[in-house]
Amino acid sequence: MVVDRWRHYLERGNASTAEIGVGICSESNEVSKLSPRYYGPFTILAKVGKVAYRLQLPEEFQIHPVFHISLLKRAVGNEPMNPTLPSLPEEGNRVEELEAILDRGLCMISMSLPDIELHTFRGDNPEGMEARNEVAALAMDDMIAWMQEGGQVGIFDATNSTSKRRNMLMKMAEGKCKIIFLETICNDERIIERNIRLKIQQSPDYAEEPDFEAGYRDFKKRLENYEKVYEPVEEGSYIKMIDMVSGQGGQIQVNNISGYLPGRIVFFLVNTHLTPRPILLTRHGESRDNVRGRIGGDSSLSDTGETYAKKLANFVEKRLKNERAASIWTSTLQRTILTANSIVGFPKIQWRALDEINAGVCDGMTYEEIKKNMPEEYESRRKDKLRYRYPRGESYLDVIQRLEPVIIELERQRAPVVVISHQAVLRALYAYFADRPLKEVPHIEMPLHTIIEIQMGVTGVQEKRYKLMD
Ligand code: F6P
Repeated sequence: MVVDRWRHYLERGNASTAEIGVGICSESNEVSKLSPRYYGPFTILAKVGKVAYRLQLPEEFQIHPVFHISLLKRAVGNEPMNPTLPSLPEEGNRVEELEAILDRGLCMISMSLPDIELHTFRGDNPEGMEARNEVAALAMDDMIAWMQEGGQVGIFDATNSTSKRRNMLMKMAEGKCKIIFLETICNDERIIERNIRLKIQQSPDYAEEPDFEAGYRDFKKRLENYEKVYEPVEEGSYIKMIDMVSGQGGQIQVNNISGYLPGRIVFFLVNTHLTPRPILLTRHGESRDNVRGRIGGDSSLSDTGETYAKKLANFVEKRLKNERAASIWTSTLQRTILTANSIVGFPKIQWRALDEINAGVCDGMTYEEIKKNMPEEYESRRKDKLRYRYPRGESYLDVIQRLEPVIIELERQRAPVVVISHQAVLRALYAYFADRPLKEVPHIEMPLHTIIEIQMGVTGVQEKRYKLMD
């Protein structure tokens, strides 16, 4: 039972083995969502902080041995279930589920409990309620600890649908951080039905349930249990989004919200939505400066770059043939405009914010020339590529900041967008959607002649890659 499981780990802390829940990617080229399967059992070596455990893992696993408690399950019996982890698909086919928008200051703590029994969600089941409150408190503790280490905005993702639970959270946050409740209300039966079906198909909660109809009945019952105890948010600071999912009208109610950051959160929420649509990111075709190894500039395409432009047009035509409202975004530099040239049938929008990082006094030089003629500059950039600002030019942090309006506009779009831009800019955009840590941004691989398709939607963000030239 779930209560036993959590108590076992949290209070007595005397478990000796555990199984790890690992997200598995599809090996095929198809988009799929990570869903946990359990591997193990593995010996517990130590408790790390309040909510994590260090396990003894075989060296060949090459994964960090400390796991949050929500990824662990009590091992039953002594038989190894799945002693080896599945191999990861090739880099090009990797599919990632995103849970957090870090580095833009937003962090979500997921509260889903795998393999949980239905009665745990009943309002009249005190043990189930206690277990859920216990886990909520742990997650909240975790988030407050993260914020005290410098996190700016954390998203505590749970139902929090009773005022008792919300009061508990407010009490825990007292004197430590400000709380804003977000309530999403949807009165459209079709959307609710669609979301329930997606939940059964893709949530880790139902990963072990092969029978769709059984999962569906289970989830409906879970909803009924929530409905019985639900109390609308009326306390503290809150933002309520009412029927905003469809994108046709809707309402946003804001209570007791003031200040820069809360204001930006409202702005973000007004513009964001979950309508499934792809965003296609690609660098321009190879430019003449790329061939010469020169950075920056505004050169035209090489012959190879021209070939890519044609292949890209073909690809976009096929991929977006039923997407009349799609659009093509480029920078104002001719290598991206020329790359978009052969694409017909879609509006093209030029954004200065999509221009390549400004290399200032180094514009037009090769990396070797910078190293030889400006060794201190070269060294400073090598040491801290994220913060280094070219003299009279930009840093990666500058690029990230100037991309904010582009990101808001991409979040707002309900139709597909093809973004043709440059290496540094696409690293920053990709990191936002793929939830890559800030410090990694300048080092993300962003090869020429490759399309990264990011699928936005109800189930998070997933990606596919297409290499058109080999
Ligand atoms: O080399 C192509 C390019 O787009 C340059 O114009 C730009 O300065 C560079 O890539 C950015 O990559 P990095 O930050 O790795 O130098």
